Amino acid sequence: MAKRLPILVYPHPNLRKTAMPVDHVTPDISDLVDDMVFTMYEANGIGLAAVQVDRPLQIVVVDTSESKDSPQVYINPLIEESSGLQTTEEGCLSIPGFFEEVERAEVIQVTALDRNGESFTRELGGLDSVCVQHEIDHLNGKVFVDYLSRVKRSRIRKKLLKAKAA
Ligand code: NI
Repeated sequence: MAKRLPILVYPHPNLRKTAMPVDHVTPDISDLVDDMVFTMYEANGIGLAAVQVDRPLQIVVVDTSESKDSPQVYINPLIEESSGLQTTEEGCLSIPGFFEEVERAEVIQVTALDRNGESFTRELGGLDSVCVQHEIDHLNGKVFVDYLSRVKRSRIRKKLLKAKAA
């Protein structure tokens, strides 16, 4: 049975960790993937990186479908090519309640392993592209507020620290 994992909230220092590649997609890794997908759905998110559940491994799950029944799994994801630009209002399960516009590539080509350890390459556009880029940032210790001005970021940081203390 998949379980809901606690999600780290910004500015938790572990969100700054760099994720390690997954050597082998063992049953433990598959279980973690299942727990991440479950956690993403429970939290009403469209993407989640393992770093956010305090497991600094290169694992990302995404589901941008309306029906929430099409989970995409990216293990050791690598963006091979990117083109164009798009600006989207982004949010993050680790930065609850804040939404800001971020500019990213429009189309990306990403290579990764799936839940069974099989390699695949996929071209992504629109929200899938934004989401995968956002999640890959997490694997590099980066969050979307890093793209904002220092003033905006500091305001969000203070509000979340205050909410935590309350
Ligand atoms: Ni996020």
